[in-house]
Amino acid sequence: MPEHIVLAYSGGLDTSVAVHWLKHHHDAQVTAVLVDLGQPLASLEDAKARAVANGAEDCVVVDAKQEFAERFLAPAIHANALYEDAYPLATALGRPLIAETLVQVAAEVGADAVAHGCTGKGNDQVRIEAAVLALAPHLEVLAPQRTNPMTRDAVLRYAEAHDLSLPPLKDSPYSVDENLWGRSVEGHDVEDPASAVPEDAYAWTASPQAAPDAPGTFTLTFQAGLPVALDGQTLPLHELIATLNDLAGAHGVGRIDHVENRLVGIKTRELYEAPAAACVLAAKKALEALVLTRDEAQIKAPLEQTFSNLVYDGKVFHPALTGLQAYFAQTHQVTSGSVTLQAYKGGLTVLSRSSDQSLVDAGLATYADGDAFHHEASTGFIELWTLPQVVLAKKRGAPVQTAPVPATPPVVQP
Ligand code: ARG
Repeated sequence: MPEHIVLAYSGGLDTSVAVHWLKHHHDAQVTAVLVDLGQPLASLEDAKARAVANGAEDCVVVDAKQEFAERFLAPAIHANALYEDAYPLATALGRPLIAETLVQVAAEVGADAVAHGCTGKGNDQVRIEAAVLALAPHLEVLAPQRTNPMTRDAVLRYAEAHDLSLPPLKDSPYSVDENLWGRSVEGHDVEDPASAVPEDAYAWTASPQAAPDAPGTFTLTFQAGLPVALDGQTLPLHELIATLNDLAGAHGVGRIDHVENRLVGIKTRELYEAPAAACVLAAKKALEALVLTRDEAQIKAPLEQTFSNLVYDGKVFHPALTGLQAYFAQTHQVTSGSVTLQAYKGGLTVLSRSSDQSLVDAGLATYADGDAFHHEASTGFIELWTLPQVVLAKKRGAPVQTAPVPATPPVVQP
């Protein structure tokens, strides 16, 4: 039986009650840990007081915003990380740092177990436990919502029976996770892929209809593949992201409606709001197009997917990820310059991009005066490039015309 449990505490209903349940179910001490990754927090003081009122020895609050941005979001930006080309991985990137903080606090207070409030159906349990076990395999991991699941009503009944201190109860029926890099929404009316996402599922972004009639423009300056300034103002990464979330979110940018393949085998419709991620990745890709060679860009693309899958699957502390990070960091030594974006009623457009490292050679590219391209050289180039085709045509005759699409096999019914 564990003697001292460190609980990942959000300050919400479930973990406020979990403090009490863990303490009494396991007859153990509980230390609550609230990791600030930039999620909107109503009142830290209230959250701390509530954990202690419900039986925690202590509630440790860790401001991890800067660390989250520098150690987790920067590599994700370098990797243009998008799971299934859609989800910027906010939750997936946040869980390992929460787990790492649990491990650190466990060492400080001499705890022998950590606990989290994730259910058995999601990816988050896997991510937290994979990270805890990678960093501290001796710790026991408790997941009360998996071993002794309680519905929302049961949680409320338990709280009433034990006279627990609760946060102001929200009406929101959705399961929401938020941090600097985005807001993830699951459940309730988001679940059915056949119906449109209801407006009440959104919180960070204006609807296109409610967005301002005048477009917003933002200029992002990059150094070595990371944004360092917004509209000329140098900002630390975590502040730049927070500011951009507000600016672009007001124009409705960053809404992502995604049917997703979860690690635990479930296919599900999920909703994300990630205004800053949308802007940063769009701008960075525009800059990359200017400064990277075709080979670098093409080699990088499948590695970006591999990176995104590793993060999604909870392998953030895996050496394979470190290797990929080194590749992206080296490639992005030249990704410096500025990109101006326009946000307008949910749409995002790249207006312009410039870089001292640009590989665009105006003399080679222009169709106007000053053309420096050696046109005649193309004749010899084409002669050699097409040589195998010419040999084929001579040996085998004219090629078959485009083959028709084969008949569709019938779908097998179960
Ligand atoms: N499907 C996303 C992921 O696996 C988001 C999970 C959000 N978690 C939550 N408790 N609402 O990363």
